[in-house]
Amino acid sequence: MLRMGHAQCRDDLNLGLGWIYYALARVIRPKTAVVIGSWRGFVPAVIGKALKDNSEPGELLFIDPSLVDDFWSDPVRVERHFAALGVPNVRHLRATTQEFVATGAYSQLDEVGMLMVDGHHTAEQARFDYLAFLPKLDPEAIVLFHDSVRRFQSPIYGKDHPYEHTVCLLMDRLRETPGLEVMSLPFDGGLTLVRGRPASLASIEAPFEGSK
Ligand SMILES: C[S@@+](CC[C@H](N)C(=O)[O-])C[C@H]1O[C@@H](n2cnc3c(N)ncnc32)[C@H](O)[C@@H]1O
Repeated sequence: MLRMGHAQCRDDLNLGLGWIYYALARVIRPKTAVVIGSWRGFVPAVIGKALKDNSEPGELLFIDPSLVDDFWSDPVRVERHFAALGVPNVRHLRATTQEFVATGAYSQLDEVGMLMVDGHHTAEQARFDYLAFLPKLDPEAIVLFHDSVRRFQSPIYGKDHPYEHTVCLLMDRLRETPGLEVMSLPFDGGLTLVRGRPASLASIEAPFEGSK
């Protein structure tokens, strides 16, 4: 879990950006938090722990189709993984965001207080993820985008299949959108915090030049 860009440090037991995820979940106290994408479950586990430490119940919905490897493919193993981490309140759905929005679980979802977008790191996919959950967000919600501060060639799907992280292009659009507060932290993979509601989707929905 140390290698996925969250600025953790084992030597001084430092959660890095995890402190921010934990703190926000304790302050916002969401009934529901959503994490899109995770390699081994660091962010779902940290936010799930915060929801569990809050006195009122909170559920972490974790959406990941297990595209990088088969780690999220066996529901029993996934349940055991999160139970062993002390977070049985993490519910995994094996789906892309595109598949999830067609489910009954999506229709029933509301009052999402925290959303982490950490799936496929193109500007287009991050935009799809953001717009899919925008109508589901609580007015006080915070949206977090990981790997969002610079372009980067990712080898995660194999050295022969590199793809470019371009989430930072979407962050530039959000920064120029009235109604939103946007702050980026350039540590390790980088994190961007977004709150508010966009006054218009015009800039967000425009095509991205030089991204695929
Ligand atoms: C490997 S993680 C990125 C690393 C991440 N920073 C972390 O902390 O673990 C990316 C995850 O996004 C998932 N993913 C890819 N495309 C997706 C999509 N369209 N919707 C949801 N999740 C997706 C992959 O299955 C993968 O597990």
